[in-house]
This record gives sequence, C-alpha cells and structure tokens, in this order.
Amino acid sequence: MSAADAMRIHDSNRVATVELFLDGQRFTARAGESVAVALFASDVKALRSSPRLREARGMFCLMGSCQECLVMVDGRRTLACRTPVTDGLHVETVPETGADG
Ligand code: FES
Repeated sequence: MSAADAMRIHDSNRVATVELFLDGQRFTARAGESVAVALFASDVKALRSSPRLREARGMFCLMGSCQECLVMVDGRRTLACRTPVTDGLHVETVPETGADG
C-alpha cells in the first residue's frame, strides 16, 4: 500500500465518490477526505512555489501546522489538509505573496 493509499478513506461501499476541481482541473475523491489527501492521492504533490527560490511547496505535516498546503476555497485562504472535500468543491492555488522564501 502506498503512502497516499494509507491516507485515503477505504470504505468505498459506504462513502460516496465525489469530484473536486483544482484550478479548473477535475479530480475524484471520497467524501470526507481532506483536500490535501485527495490531491496527493491523485499525484498532485505541489500546490504552490516559494516566491524567492521557486521551490515546490505542498502537503507536509497534514495536521494544520506547517501552512505549506495553503489554497483558496470560496475566495478565502484555507489549509488543504484541514478542508474536507465536498462534491463539486472548487479549489484554487494561492497567488504568491512574497511572504515566504
Ligand atoms: S500540510 Fe501542513 S498545514 Fe497542511
């Protein structure tokens, strides 16, 4: 079992498969998974890049501490690892602000 599989909700008989969108690209997930896990399991590892070094940033702690999974949902900044997927959820990457390096 891969690391991504270990994070997923496995009871697919009782959990609905839903869709979410990242910058307009469609992905599938299981209802209740976090946005971070759903994207990671779909091979999306980077959600933004650092403004100074242009290094990929993405899921790291998966518990709301590192802030590396910052995304936009409904026009508000939120953490992908703390946001449950709902059907049709639209997630946008965050424009760089120069706040980190
Ligand atoms: S992965 Fe660290 S805050 Fe989301």
